[in-house]
Amino acid sequence: MTDDREQLQNTPIGVFDSGVGGLTVVREIIRQIPNEKIVYFGDTARVPYGSKSKDTVTKYSKQIVRFLKTQNVKAVVVACNTASAYALDEIEKEIDIPIIGVVKPGAKVAAETTRNGKIGVIATEGTINSQIYSTYIKKINENINVIGKACPLFVPLVEEGLLVDPVTDEIAMRYLSELIDRDIDTLILGCTHYPLIRSTIGKIMGENVALVNPAYETARGLKELLEREDLLNKKEAGLGENKYRFFVSDGAEKFKRFANSVLKYGILSAKTINIEEYSVKK
Ligand code: DGL
Repeated sequence: MTDDREQLQNTPIGVFDSGVGGLTVVREIIRQIPNEKIVYFGDTARVPYGSKSKDTVTKYSKQIVRFLKTQNVKAVVVACNTASAYALDEIEKEIDIPIIGVVKPGAKVAAETTRNGKIGVIATEGTINSQIYSTYIKKINENINVIGKACPLFVPLVEEGLLVDPVTDEIAMRYLSELIDRDIDTLILGCTHYPLIRSTIGKIMGENVALVNPAYETARGLKELLEREDLLNKKEAGLGENKYRFFVSDGAEKFKRFANSVLKYGILSAKTINIEEYSVKK
């Protein structure tokens, strides 16, 4: 193998989300491909994306990808369902490195999991309105019935750290009772924040409903993609090397505290940057 190829393999993967939710994808990447270096961007100043328009989410996503490219990343993971639903196609057009979103991998595993052909999707308003999960699932099997439910209060509950709390139980009960009545046997956690309240959701849905976490499948898909492109990092990081770097658009300290509770790895720092600087004219 040439030195150039090894050097390229040793460059980081760029991962982004509107805030902290994408850390559930980072967690899976670290578990499944531990040699990989990661540059993470959380758009904490402009979260949530879930209630914003397609144009706005696409504009934000393009700025972030431009920033990640300045960090010399070899591939990009859109670790946000809303950005994957609204912006992935657009970003793909202007990027010359491999890119993967979270929706397609999640849709695929849900279609493989269901036995009765009734799949529920819980996500932000943006993701539900885009009908992206239904579109992908129906491409795999047009007979599957996909029932979407927007759960807008889940994101602020997670951001406030109310992961196990009576308030979260109460709100989850209201959102999910509709899906229980529809007899689904598979439920996609279609927002990267939701795996953090998986136990609450699982308790309400019961053991006969399989919960699909697209983060797991995305990390698997990323591994396959890197293998295909000969980009997998075969080298372990050197001692003291800064393997994971975190950037946000606001509230670095709060982000750091949250990130340390999600990832086992101790986060040394999170840096605030002005993401608006990476708009199209730049
Ligand atoms: N991370 C976003 C997603 O997966 C949810 C948070 C937001 O609305 O920005 O859709």
